[in-house]
Amino acid sequence: MPINIAIDGPAGAGKSTVAKKLAEDYGYIYVDTGAMYRAMALYFLRQGIDSHDEAAIGRACETVSISLEYENGIQQVYLNGENVSSELRTEAVGNMASNTSVYAPVRKKLVELQRELAGRRDVVMDGRDIGTAVLPDATLKVYLTASSHVRAERRYKELTERGESCSLEAIEQDIIERDYRDMHRELSPLKQAEDAILLDTSALNFEEVMREMEKLVEAAKKNPIAVGNF
Ligand code: DC
Repeated sequence: MPINIAIDGPAGAGKSTVAKKLAEDYGYIYVDTGAMYRAMALYFLRQGIDSHDEAAIGRACETVSISLEYENGIQQVYLNGENVSSELRTEAVGNMASNTSVYAPVRKKLVELQRELAGRRDVVMDGRDIGTAVLPDATLKVYLTASSHVRAERRYKELTERGESCSLEAIEQDIIERDYRDMHRELSPLKQAEDAILLDTSALNFEEVMREMEKLVEAAKKNPIAVGNF
């Protein structure tokens, strides 16, 4: 059985940075499922499809193709054969992804791809519904979170370092709205799985989070069932 590590949590909790480093340290594949929802969203944006037009989104899902490849261990997302990895991290694509990930055809298509990957490779997979819906039998499930203020500050720092002008208040408001949408949608809403371990990173730096994660992975590899009873 491949080792499957599921990391869920709200936007900006540090999931991708942690998951990426963990995968690198253990030699597993890092699967960024948010990037898959973002690639779908990019397609809808390019096609001029409205985020509330469920019928058009359903039709688009029948023909669109999303696939993942790994170059030097780094995930590349292909949309209809085109590598779109560098176009996925904008606020517009993120908001479109949050709005369109509520629809069943979008989730069905991507969950199939995610399960197929995790069934044949050791993976660290991050997202919103990995522990609750995609990989219910994962070796380890972690719910990574932080206060909305801390998450907004991290995002603000990232954007200003990239030279983008932005407002901290607007970012925090956006995070609060996205959390609400992700947690209150009907299908696979963001929530902590019963057997997931909660890790609040508000007061932790990256090294401290990694130390906690490594302890959890080591314990889970020895005893996948007992890890939830810490
Ligand atoms: O993690 P992210 O910001 O890249 O994700 C973008 C959106 O995709 C997020 O707001 C909700 C959706 N998503 C999802 O519904 N399920 C996942 N497993 C991952 C992301």
